Amino acid sequence: MKIIEVKDYTEMSRKAAEYIIDKVCHNPKIKLGLATGGTPIGTYKNLIEDHKKKGTSYQDVTTFNLDEYVGLSGDNKNSYRYFMDEQLFNHIDINKSKTNVPRGDIINFEAECLRYEDLIEKHGGIDLQILGIGSNGHIGFNEPGTSFNSNTHMVELAQSTINANARFFNRIEEVPTKAITMGISSILKSKEILLLVSGENKKEALFKLLNGEINESFPASVLKKHPCVTIIADKAAVAGLKVHC
Ligand code: PGA
Repeated sequence: MKIIEVKDYTEMSRKAAEYIIDKVCHNPKIKLGLATGGTPIGTYKNLIEDHKKKGTSYQDVTTFNLDEYVGLSGDNKNSYRYFMDEQLFNHIDINKSKTNVPRGDIINFEAECLRYEDLIEKHGGIDLQILGIGSNGHIGFNEPGTSFNSNTHMVELAQSTINANARFFNRIEEVPTKAITMGISSILKSKEILLLVSGENKKEALFKLLNGEINESFPASVLKKHPCVTIIADKAAVAGLKVHC
């Protein structure tokens, strides 16, 4: 794993965007794995700014999002489909039909999980997966204890995840308790992974990732098995850790 330490959230977002833009320019048909949550918002802002100023095109890019809440349709303001449209897709020239988010509003979840996994495979897999990390070490919505062999599946969210995500909802009771997520195996199949870590509340998770054992009780630890992971972490998350670029 390569670690790039940056000053703060602003710099992390700028660097991550540069990283992604470079990949898109080299491979306009790139398959991008995208994440939601607070961490990538600044990165997406930078992508939009660059698109408007420099014209980087996403016309031929295909995207796959990591996860979606069960029970929310794409027009629900708290769905991850809505988040992606608002935070990125509506502001760049991407073809919406090439943007994929698991469906949270369907009845047959088993079929939806298979469909999503299959769709990624049919596109030849993900070239670059953007990831955040939960303070409990989750990646996507793969909570502690998830099998490293898991494909796209339905999960019960950990209480700590519900608490952390409550900030996006009016009331904590509105936070869905289930989600569909790409599995750990699905994520690991990406050719390359870019993990973004910002803030003091992620410091412990980053420490465990860098120094702990590879164990299903800490899902992000599996990233050590992947041959091509870059971490961009800000000072607040890194503080006191010994890391080398
Ligand atoms: P955050 O979430 O970006 O909102 O901190 C990250 C995650 O839970 O994976």
